[in-house]
Amino acid sequence: MKIKILTIIGARPQIIKAAAISRAIKNGFDPQIQEVLVHTGQHYDRNMSDVFFTEMGIPEPHYNLNVGSMSHAAQTAKMMVGIEDLINSEKPNYLLVYGDTNSTLAGALSAAKLHLPVIHVEAGLRSYNKSMPEEINRIMTDHASTLLFTPTKTGFQNLIKEGFSNTEIEKANVDHPAIFHCGDVMLDNSLFFEEKAQKDSQILQKLNLKPNEFVLCTIHRDNNTDIKERLTDIVRALLEISQKNDIQIVLPLHPRTAKKLPEMLDSQLYKDFTTTERIKITEPVSFFDMIQLESNSKLIMTDSGGVQKEAFFFKKPCLIMRSETEWVEIVDAACAKIVDANRTKIIENFNLFINRQDLAFPEIFGNGKAAEFICKKIIEHGK
Ligand code: UD1
Ligand code: UDP
Repeated sequence: MKIKILTIIGARPQIIKAAAISRAIKNGFDPQIQEVLVHTGQHYDRNMSDVFFTEMGIPEPHYNLNVGSMSHAAQTAKMMVGIEDLINSEKPNYLLVYGDTNSTLAGALSAAKLHLPVIHVEAGLRSYNKSMPEEINRIMTDHASTLLFTPTKTGFQNLIKEGFSNTEIEKANVDHPAIFHCGDVMLDNSLFFEEKAQKDSQILQKLNLKPNEFVLCTIHRDNNTDIKERLTDIVRALLEISQKNDIQIVLPLHPRTAKKLPEMLDSQLYKDFTTTERIKITEPVSFFDMIQLESNSKLIMTDSGGVQKEAFFFKKPCLIMRSETEWVEIVDAACAKIVDANRTKIIENFNLFINRQDLAFPEIFGNGKAAEFICKKIIEHGK
């Protein structure tokens, strides 16, 4: 009998991560694993959701809860009601969640309360900053999970510190969970799609960009978009960098940031930022376009978790516009620098990093086979 997994996705990075495991199931584990995909509808714009399914060959979700945007509690609760119904009707053997969004938490809580074992992919990450909604989501999810897969060694050690045992028992359960360090499914995807993106993506031509002559930037973290002083400092730094260095900065804009920019910036700054030719503001781009931008950029500035790692995968220096990171290994390897939303730090470190040729990128995120490893462990424990 196949092991039936109810996989919960909802936000952009989860859809992208899901591609790796769905692909592994299709290419090798289909006789043993049946995946039922549930989209919560947390992200719903075409370029935040649909585009990834088509491009990355992810199966159409079996269900879409169409939850949409609302407050944390309302959104999480609405997802939980829908997921609970699906657990009862689909009767899966496991529920699988990715990362640390409200969709992750909703899935994990709904399942744990119905005694359905939870698989957490991208477990163990910690910022040690509980003002982040993601930190609450990931701690709660880890502690409601039965099989936990960490992308990094630090993630694994964080779980040990919180009392998880590293002795693997034969059949894990929520009181005796099993933790594994397996590498990052996002590396699986970047390696798998890099060549195809190079062939298919027209983004460099479309934006009139020359390889290695532009900077890529993304901003969407709530404490950057929703705090006037922080967003203003970031925008001023970007403007100054683009002017002083006569360099283009490409900014595929998350819808949250697109909404907040005119609200938070003073009107002259908003005008300067959105009308200069050196700052190329675009809609969110597809995954192929994104990895094409990343791999051809000179440097990446971001507050995104996923983009920090992809900067590393494509061997690009990265300025992390947050006060801390879960991906501490890339900072320890001196490939990335935490610059917060501090204008001076951003500019100083840009100047230090922009022409660095001597960075070394050790193997931190595994070997591109994390999804395969995860499937094998699910089968071992699900027998
Ligand atoms: C969410 C995750 C965050 C993750 C990010 C990835 C939580 C708490 N946060 O943040 O961890 O890094 O996704 O991108 O789960 N919006 C649209 N169209 C969409 C989606 C969102 O316009 O398709 C706008 C809405 O105004 C919405 C806002 O973006 O209120 C924020 O969306 P939401 O999903 O609540 O949080 P994110 O900031 O996207
Ligand atoms: N991404 C994308 N298009 C964009 C911006 C990001 O495809 O315009 C991809 C990026 O390559 C990475 C993922 O989205 O794989 C990161 O998601 P996001 O930054 O939304 O969330 P986080 O990783 O911070 O949770």
